[in-house]
Amino acid sequence: MKKRLLAFTLIAAMGSALLTGCYAGYPAQTTGTAPAAEAAKPANDKLVVGFAQIGQESGWRDGETNDIQWYAAQHTDTIDLVFADAQQKQENQIKAIRNYIEMGVDVIAFPPVVETGWEAVLTECKEAGIPVILVDRGVDESCADLYDTQISSDFIWEGQQAADIVGDLLGGSGKVVELEGTVGASAANERKEGFDGELAEKYPDIEIIASQTGDFTRALGKEVMESFLKSYDDIDAVFAHNDDMALGAIEAIKEAGKKPGEDIKIVGCDGVKGAFEAMVAGEMNGTVECNPCLAEQIFDTAAKLKAGETVDKWIVSNDGVFTQEDAAAELPNRTY
Ligand code: AHR
Repeated sequence: MKKRLLAFTLIAAMGSALLTGCYAGYPAQTTGTAPAAEAAKPANDKLVVGFAQIGQESGWRDGETNDIQWYAAQHTDTIDLVFADAQQKQENQIKAIRNYIEMGVDVIAFPPVVETGWEAVLTECKEAGIPVILVDRGVDESCADLYDTQISSDFIWEGQQAADIVGDLLGGSGKVVELEGTVGASAANERKEGFDGELAEKYPDIEIIASQTGDFTRALGKEVMESFLKSYDDIDAVFAHNDDMALGAIEAIKEAGKKPGEDIKIVGCDGVKGAFEAMVAGEMNGTVECNPCLAEQIFDTAAKLKAGETVDKWIVSNDGVFTQEDAAAELPNRTY
């Protein structure tokens, strides 16, 4: 039975070599922007996973998409991936999930663009008996029983690590501005909780003088930083909830005639290649990694759930913390 799907690509017949590990440099398969395309659950015994991606807001997000599509393409003998790009809209993610339910996929996986508003569709997944994996972001407590597992980083820890880098860079006192991620996203809420909490506890003489969303995009990060620079001439450091916004802030600082990384210290999250290049150039001071290379874990976990096995409720990524000192040595290892 064919069902209508939102901007889907069925990843199939794209190579069969069995490779493992992250390959975020895989060229993204066209998901298109057409409102609907046709796809149906393939009639075979493969593991069929429906993935409702948020969109393409950051280099990190592209890295995650590439890794998932690449991994599926290397395992076409056992995996069918049905992929949708929700173009940043929760309603599109919900539509895609409902289509996956109609198709009868084995497992549904998605990164919730925001924490709230998932009860109805997750209840539908449960009623349909389809296991759900939350990928890289979480949902609010009211949905705790409505998904099987979350594979993600610890965002509170990431915010705390960023605060410690800023605390060190400023020698314990100074003025900081914060570029927040998407309003309502767990990645933004929890990084803020970790960062603000750690500063308040360990560095009471560091003040957050402004905090505003840049929606995890480079363009908005730059725009918000421009307005911060117009309002304050005494900014010592920026904490950006992701590296794309940090890179946007660097552009704004340069255009304002100041030296990023020196006059104003900059710390981000994600660990994208661009952040390492900026650190090597002396224009950024640190980044806290958030591993987007989750494909192997996602598909292994999906296979276990399909087989009726129980898995941990939270599968936490192992992330690193990097500063200018480590940047040159680490740069060649960055895959996203
Ligand atoms: O959920 C992970 C976050 O989402 C990444 O830090 C960010 O770059 C992305 O948009």
